[in-house]
Amino acid sequence: RVTDRTTGLEKFVLREARGSSVEVYLYGGQVTFWKSNSGQQLLFVSNKANFKPPKAIRGGIQICFPQLGNHGVLEQHGFARNRFWSVDESPPPFPVSSSNCHVDLILKQSQEDLKIWPHSYEFRLRVALSPRGDLILTSRIRNTGSDGKPFQFTFAYHTYFSVSDISEVRVEGLETLDYFDNLQSKTRCTEQGDAVVFESEVDKVYLSAPQKIVIIDHEKKRTFVLRKDGLPDVVVWNPWDKKSKAMPDFGDEEYKNMLCVGAAAIEKPITLKPGEEWQGRQEICAVPSSYSSGQ
Ligand code: BG6
Repeated sequence: RVTDRTTGLEKFVLREARGSSVEVYLYGGQVTFWKSNSGQQLLFVSNKANFKPPKAIRGGIQICFPQLGNHGVLEQHGFARNRFWSVDESPPPFPVSSSNCHVDLILKQSQEDLKIWPHSYEFRLRVALSPRGDLILTSRIRNTGSDGKPFQFTFAYHTYFSVSDISEVRVEGLETLDYFDNLQSKTRCTEQGDAVVFESEVDKVYLSAPQKIVIIDHEKKRTFVLRKDGLPDVVVWNPWDKKSKAMPDFGDEEYKNMLCVGAAAIEKPITLKPGEEWQGRQEICAVPSSYSSGQ
């Protein structure tokens, strides 16, 4: 646990023996840095990112909870991404044992937050690095309310991947799926074609996607494989040139080097009765592009 010298914010640095590493901020419970065994940063963080509350950090993996996007009355993407999380000193055991290289964080309702979202919960986040450098995020959310009432939420791991050139990127696994197009008032459409490619602004939520999505970044000869569990949907976002210019914490040209793809639960919000717990997991790995998506 260290205090970042530039940002003044506290973060955890996880290092695996073979060379991969991850940085996780208590602010937002946000992973900002993920380095492969070969030493490259695999996540995008804007050069203009603010590391100053109350703005969320532009990049890495944002935790969107209890609301994704503007599908509700809360602020865009909910409040978890701009709250200070705590270290979870004694997390309940995981059903599946995960890597030893991990950190556990927790977020609970504050008196302030109860005014905007009147529910009691415990949100436990485990960030883990596997021996071969895969990054695994597991969220466990429990309704701890004593009012006998269920609550509902939507969720996403809003993941900013670093890519060499967006116009060369291909995403496999989303073809033929239905999606909500946020650029067309959330109209429901069906994806055509073999793979998703990028030629203009994209802001979509793919529905009931397969457990494995592959992001192929040609130039760097790198492929990301995203595996998900408990999260049926997938968000895909790139602001392209015009929107980039309108975002104060994002460089005008940076859209060329990033792509957001993240596991989500949005079409069917998760409902938790008192005492119930939900679990959602996203695992990402980076492999050479010679990797065949059939593997
Ligand atoms: C996407 C939304 O998921 O996130 C977009 O669908 C939004 O509409 C983008 O612009 C970034 O959101 P924010 O709040 O981090 O600027």
